[in-house]
Amino acid sequence: MDRGVIIYEDFCMNCHLVDGEGVENVIPPLALSDFLMKNREESLKVVKFGQSGKIVVNGKTYNGTMTAMGLTGQEIADVMNYITNSFGNSNAIKFTEQEVLKIEK
Ligand code: HEC
Repeated sequence: MDRGVIIYEDFCMNCHLVDGEGVENVIPPLALSDFLMKNREESLKVVKFGQSGKIVVNGKTYNGTMTAMGLTGQEIADVMNYITNSFGNSNAIKFTEQEVLKIEK
């Protein structure tokens, strides 16, 4: 969590904002995001490989682009643990570096 918050502030907060609320119609929220909390593998792919095209989050369609940020497996695990346990989210199953490294496109 301590490492994850630093990654979040450096790489994610510009777009997803300080409380993970996103920007209406442009950047999807992380706070209470059904996509993030219900699609563990797909969410990991977004952060590891980037994402563009249509994506539905909490019933709203977004059609933007998020580029991959070239984070290491450990950094991705840390930031995933942070965002899935912040902004009202809670996730008991920790992300690990091994899990991140196993995910393929
Ligand atoms: C340049 C702005 C930008 C940055 C920086 C950014 N994102 Fe995103 N993110 C987006 C956009 C835009 C989408 C939706 C892409 C689409 O419409 O296909 C998205 C989608 C997501 C999603 C899946 C949808 C959801 O809201 O649950 C997750 C998870 C996510 N981002 C996490 C992160 C994390 C973690 C970081 C930092 C490591 C990060 N993002 C950095 C713009 C950004």
